[in-house]
Amino acid sequence: MDLEEIRDFLVQLARTAGEMIREKTGKVTWDDKMNSVDLVTETDAAVERMVKEQLASKYPDFKFMGEETAHGVLTADPTFIVDPIDGTTNFIHRFPSSCISLGFAVDKVPVVGVVYNPLLDHMYQGVQGKGAYFNGQKLPLKPPSELSLGTALIAIEWGSERSGPNYTCKTQTFANLAASDGGMVHGFRSMGSAALNLCSVAAGTLDAYWEGGCWAWDVCAGWAILAETGGAVVHGNPGTDKAAVDSRVYLAVRAGSNQQKFIADFKSHIKGS
Ligand code: IPD
Repeated sequence: MDLEEIRDFLVQLARTAGEMIREKTGKVTWDDKMNSVDLVTETDAAVERMVKEQLASKYPDFKFMGEETAHGVLTADPTFIVDPIDGTTNFIHRFPSSCISLGFAVDKVPVVGVVYNPLLDHMYQGVQGKGAYFNGQKLPLKPPSELSLGTALIAIEWGSERSGPNYTCKTQTFANLAASDGGMVHGFRSMGSAALNLCSVAAGTLDAYWEGGCWAWDVCAGWAILAETGGAVVHGNPGTDKAAVDSRVYLAVRAGSNQQKFIADFKSHIKGS
């Protein structure tokens, strides 16, 4: 299987999707899915249709999983895992932080990732064993320094589940990290796109990203990119270490010394740990 050829094809698809997304950004109406903060537009569906058709014709033997049309259960078979617009809320508001996220997993391991933000023309891509790049520049964008919670810039997301125990766990964990007895993190950023958060961790411009509630299509491509930079994705719950692409709860940490200590420190701030 030629992973670089797959990457090149995904880059081409991402650019075509980018034109569709750019043309409609800020001009769309939306529908609610699970609730009034879980949104979808006709463009999400149109992009996914185009990508699915193109992939089926070029790679008929590979499986497809996509946010809008094909949830299914992830198997060990080679599978494209696609979010046609990650950051749909930003797309609707014209906040320039949404992307198409095209991942490819084999044996459930993300091995190719292409993430493209068409409004900013930011293209991230990575192939297992071949490195990861941002607009042609090798990632990470700065030398990996020591990780420490007290100096960390962390991506958090509110997600679309806004009540119940998971929501309480999130908000209390944010508060613990913001101002706990053990010190304060430098800050939080909430860009509204799991894939772009992961790419920023890969770039080293964010130290970590923690979220519960997202899906394989939100993380597969960004994970493949991050893994190529020495970054880690672990399970985001305190009692579990290893994450799978469909774990739904993730902690992603950039490359750097003290990575394991950073992960342990982070997890000790999760509410209930
Ligand atoms: C969402 C975004 C958001 C994250 C949610 C995702 P969508 O994806 O990545 O940042 O908090 O968990 O579902 O709905 O815009 O494709």
